[in-house]
Amino acid sequence: MSVTTPNARKVLIKTFGCQMNVYDSERMGELLDKEGYVATNEAGEADLVILNTCHIREKAAEKVYSEVGRLRRVADERRAHGRETLIAVAGCVAQAEGAEIIRRAGAVNMVFGPQTYHRLPDMLARAREAQAQGQTPRVLDTDFPVEEKFDHMPKGRVSAGPAAFVTVQEGCDKFCTFCVVPYTRGAEISRPLAAIEGETRDLVAQGVREVTLLGQNVNAYHGDDGRGAAADLPGLIRRLAAIEGLARIRYTTSHPRDMTDALIMAHGEVDKLMPYLHLPVQAGSDRVLAAMNRKHTAESYLAIIERLRAARPDLALSGDFIVGFPGETEEDFRQTLALVEAVGYAQAYSFKYSPRPGTPAAEMADQVPEDEKADRLARLQDLLNRQQLAFNQRSVGRTMPVLFERAGRRPGQLIGRSPYMQSVHVEAADLRIGDIRACEILAAGANSLHGALAERSQAA
Ligand code: 5AD
Ligand code: SF4
Repeated sequence: MSVTTPNARKVLIKTFGCQMNVYDSERMGELLDKEGYVATNEAGEADLVILNTCHIREKAAEKVYSEVGRLRRVADERRAHGRETLIAVAGCVAQAEGAEIIRRAGAVNMVFGPQTYHRLPDMLARAREAQAQGQTPRVLDTDFPVEEKFDHMPKGRVSAGPAAFVTVQEGCDKFCTFCVVPYTRGAEISRPLAAIEGETRDLVAQGVREVTLLGQNVNAYHGDDGRGAAADLPGLIRRLAAIEGLARIRYTTSHPRDMTDALIMAHGEVDKLMPYLHLPVQAGSDRVLAAMNRKHTAESYLAIIERLRAARPDLALSGDFIVGFPGETEEDFRQTLALVEAVGYAQAYSFKYSPRPGTPAAEMADQVPEDEKADRLARLQDLLNRQQLAFNQRSVGRTMPVLFERAGRRPGQLIGRSPYMQSVHVEAADLRIGDIRACEILAAGANSLHGALAERSQAA
């Protein structure tokens, strides 16, 4: 951020939802830095507040309206002291409901979708101009521009420690019937390989040791390889693995349909590719999977897992699940439990189905009653939690490399990640953030591990 001056304009960016939004918020922060804005966490100090919203689940729009209501009161208070505030709604709710927000929430000055962030300085100039003339600015930009936003966004920088995210692809063409992403993030586009490699090299030069390649459909990556052809995700991973100083590579989120042989092989062959994969299945019943338009079956998913484990036997798996999709019976749900039993997850995210306006599933008959959904979710989460704890407990006694990312609560304690994405807490005097050290795992809970430097514990 710029050198702080008392008169500098201040911006508060509030981020909701996925890692993609976290990444986008960081990039917006950098664009605004260039415009002379300084970051603040206090709404009362902010000349510009951006809500970077998420539309994927439950009552997203309502949450935005109530947040805007709170901000309007802050803005009124500031106006009483002669200070103007701009309120902006960005992200997927903005994309999905842009005009509606402008119509319904008079306090909102700017609404723009995820594909137009690079035009933010221009939108701001227009809004500030209107403000200077005593008008209430109303700027709306929810285009899917032809030019790629990636080309116009600042490059990544180290924001929080030695593990960074790099967006490699955005959008989705899969149209799962429950999901808003194809409508809010648009068609699938990939960044050129050279741009990703350049950004990663810059990050490594700034001390980053681990990158997570981000995309809504990351394994559908097909970026320009600079020679007139398309690079695929395993090609990109192999290219990045050659970067000296980069120790770890991860990617998220993947679709089973795009789990190619080449990508599976990369898990067996590229040492820097971490043995952890988030591969959502959503449900275990083929009937439900077909209604979801997932284009895979329980059996084809299990076959992929088997091939992955043949390539990399210690691969830890994570997934997403939806319970109570329209028409899901008790028998269908039991097939989800059976699939979970068959896979054995290290970690997972599970949700009650929630209708998203404009998606096909929202119109389907046989919506499952709320109490039924809650009951199934509780049963599924009970099983997933037991699997997560068992996975963590199996780590006890093992020694594994841990990348230390941040300070813990106790003095001298650092928190890092195992290759399998587990949080590992270690206390040691000569430990630094950014270190990768062999640690012996001494104890395990549901959400984290406790360890000690391996060389120490041997000496002790
Ligand atoms: N209802 C419930 N969960 C959903 N997800 C996406 N859309 C919905 C919805 N309408 C979940 C899926 C997806 C994750 C990011 O969010 O499991 O993989
Ligand atoms: Fe949504 Fe399905 Fe695309 Fe994932 S693959 S973003 S769930 S439409």
